[in-house]
Amino acid sequence: MNEVERILELRRQLHEHNHNYYVLSSPTISDFEFDALLRELQSLEEAHPEMYDATSPTLRVGSDISKGFTQVPHKYPMLSLGNTYSKSEVADFYERVKRLLNDDFEICCELKFDGSSISLTYKDGKLVQAVTRGDGEKGDDVTANVKTIRSIPLVLKGDSYPREFEIRGEILMPWAVFEELNQSREKQGEPLFANPRNAASGTLKLMDSSEVAKRKLDAYLYYMLGEELPAEGHYENLMAAREWGFKISETTRKCHTLDEVFAFIDHFDQARKELPVATDGIVLKVNSLRQQKNLGYTAKSPRWAIAYKFQAERALTRLNEVTYQVGRTGVVTPVANLDPILLSGTIVKRASLHNADIIEKYDLHIGDMVYIEKGGEIIPKITGVDTDARFMLGDKVRFITNCPVCGTPLVRAEGEAAHYCPNEFGCAPQMRTKIEHFVSREAMNIETIGPETVELLFNYGLIKNVADLYSLQMEDFMFLPRLGAKSAENVVAALAQSRQVPFERVLFALGIRYVGATVAKRLARAFGDIDSLIAATIPQLTAVDEIGERIATSVKAYFEKPANMELVARLREAGLKFRLEEEVTSNRTDILAGKSIVISGVFTHHSRDEYKEIIEQNGGKNVSSVSKSTSFILAGENMGPSKLEKAQKLNVKVMSEDEFLALLS
Ligand code: IVH
Repeated sequence: MNEVERILELRRQLHEHNHNYYVLSSPTISDFEFDALLRELQSLEEAHPEMYDATSPTLRVGSDISKGFTQVPHKYPMLSLGNTYSKSEVADFYERVKRLLNDDFEICCELKFDGSSISLTYKDGKLVQAVTRGDGEKGDDVTANVKTIRSIPLVLKGDSYPREFEIRGEILMPWAVFEELNQSREKQGEPLFANPRNAASGTLKLMDSSEVAKRKLDAYLYYMLGEELPAEGHYENLMAAREWGFKISETTRKCHTLDEVFAFIDHFDQARKELPVATDGIVLKVNSLRQQKNLGYTAKSPRWAIAYKFQAERALTRLNEVTYQVGRTGVVTPVANLDPILLSGTIVKRASLHNADIIEKYDLHIGDMVYIEKGGEIIPKITGVDTDARFMLGDKVRFITNCPVCGTPLVRAEGEAAHYCPNEFGCAPQMRTKIEHFVSREAMNIETIGPETVELLFNYGLIKNVADLYSLQMEDFMFLPRLGAKSAENVVAALAQSRQVPFERVLFALGIRYVGATVAKRLARAFGDIDSLIAATIPQLTAVDEIGERIATSVKAYFEKPANMELVARLREAGLKFRLEEEVTSNRTDILAGKSIVISGVFTHHSRDEYKEIIEQNGGKNVSSVSKSTSFILAGENMGPSKLEKAQKLNVKVMSEDEFLALLS
C-alpha cells in the first residue's frame, strides 16, 4: 500500500471507529490505538497536501484558523413548533389532525432536546455545511466547529443516501460536561453558563474550533429534508439515517392511538431525569410526509407537529426573609430564605432572587407562598407567588439602599440590573474575597493560606489587603486561635516563596475585573512589565490579540485608582515579580511593530501557538481573518482555500514559514 492509499484506508477506518465510539457507544479499539491511527494520518496528510479533504477525520480536532461566521440563507426555513402544556391540549391537537385528514394516521413521538438547533447539508455522502437556526431564514455557517463533534458523521456509510439532503437536529452539551465546564470557569473567575443550552450555543459560536473540540458536544438528529428521501414516513427516514451513521435517539417511537401518545408522555416525564442530556418536552409529528404536506403550515409553525412541554419541577413554600450577599466585585445579590422543601431530590432552603427587578415583578411580601423551580439552572429560582394564599399581608420586600455589610449607599449603573457596593477597599466581603483570589492556586498558589486562614487573619485585623500579607511576622500569629507555631511558620515561608511567581500570574492575582489567567498572560507578554502596562492607552491595549474594549477599559480603570497604584507599589517593594523573566524578554524586538498578521495552515519549525507568541514578542498583532488591513499571511502547508482566495483578491502578501523566520533573524 502506498502512502496515498494508506491515507484513504486510515480515513475509512477512523470514520468507522468514530461511529462505533460516539454513535453506537461500543468501541472496538482502545483510545491509545485510535490516537496512533489519527497521528499516523495527520503526518501523512502533512506530507501530502494535495490529498486535502474537507471531511478528513483529522479535522475533528479543530483548528484555530478562525473566520467570523458568514450568514447563509436556509434552503428551507427553520420553523418553530406550537407549544402545549397539558394532555388536553395534546388531545385537541390529535382531534384536529384527525378531522383535517379524515383518514388513518400515525404519530411519531420524540424527545424535545434542549440545545442549539442545527441544519446539516450533505452532498454525495459528505458533510458540506452546518448552519445555526439564526432567525429561521438565515443562520451562521459554523461548519468548522460542527466538524469537531464526533457523533456527527463527516462521511456517510453505505450508498443508499440521497445525493443531496439536509438533516436537522440539536447540538447538546451533556450534563456531565456542562458541570465540569462550569467548575473550571468558576475557578478561572469566568462567568458561569446558566444551563447546558446556553453552554452549547456559546460553544458553537466560539471562533477557535480547537476550543470547541475540547468541549465535547454531542448531537441528536430528528428531521430530514430533501427532494429524494428514502421513505414516505418520517420515522422510516430517521431509521435510514441511523444506518448512514447519524445519531438518532433510541427513544423515538411511532404511535397509533392517543393513548399510546399519552403513555409515551407519562413515561418520559419521569425517565427523562435519567438522561445524560437536557430535554424540555416531547415533540409529536404526523408520520406520513404526504399527510404532513396536506396539513401544511401556519405562519410560524407546521400544523402537522406540536411540542408538549414538561412541567418544570416546581414546589410551593413560604418566604421567610430576604438576605443580601456581597460578591468580590461588589455585586449585591438578594437571596430568598425559605421553609425547607424537597425539590427534584434535594432539600431547598434558599433561592436566588437575582436582582431588584424580580422582587418588583412578583411584588413579594414576607410570608408569601412562592413557587420555586429548578430548571436547567443550578440554583433554584422563584417563579411566581400564590396570591390566593395571601390572607395576611406581611411586609413588602424592598431592595436595600445601602450595603448590608458596610452601609455604603448602593449604586446601580444605567441599564444594568445589578446593584453594586462601590466601597471596594473598605467593604469586608469584597476585601476578603480579593485576598482569597490572590492566594488561590491559579493565582499566587499560596497553598498554606486557604479561605479559613484568610478569614481568620482578616477578622483579627492582621490583613486588610493583599499587600498586608507580606508584612506578616511570626509574632503576629501568636494570639490567633487554631493556628499553631508550625502553621504560622509555613504561612510565612509560603509567602516568601511566592516572590518567585512569574509576572503573568501576579497580574492575574491582582483580580482586575475581566482579567482572567489567559488575558493576564497575553497582557504580560505584550507589555513586558507593569509600568508599560500602566502607561498603555486603550488603543495600545486593544491592539493585543483577544483584548477588546471591555477588558481594556477595565484595566485602565483599575490603574486609575490611587489605592490600586499604592497596592502595586507595596507589592513591588515586597519583592514580587512585576516584569517578565529575562529569557522571555531577551527575544523581544520591534521588527513586526504595527503589523497585523494572519496565521494559516500547518507548520514545520514551530507550532501555531509558538508562532503566535513569536509574533507578539516581536511587536506584531495576531488577527484571525484576512482583510485589507492585514499586513501579510504567515502560511504553512494546507492553508485554507478561502483564505488564499481572499488574500489574492485583496492583494495581501502570503509569506512562507522560511521567509518569515528569515525576516526575524
Ligand atoms: S422538529 C418544523 N424535533 O425545538 C419542525 N424539533 O420549537 C422542526 N427541538 O427549533 C423541528 N427536539 O431546535 C423537532 N425532536 C425534535 C426536537 C426539536 C428539539 C427543537 C428545535 C426547534 C424547536 C421547535
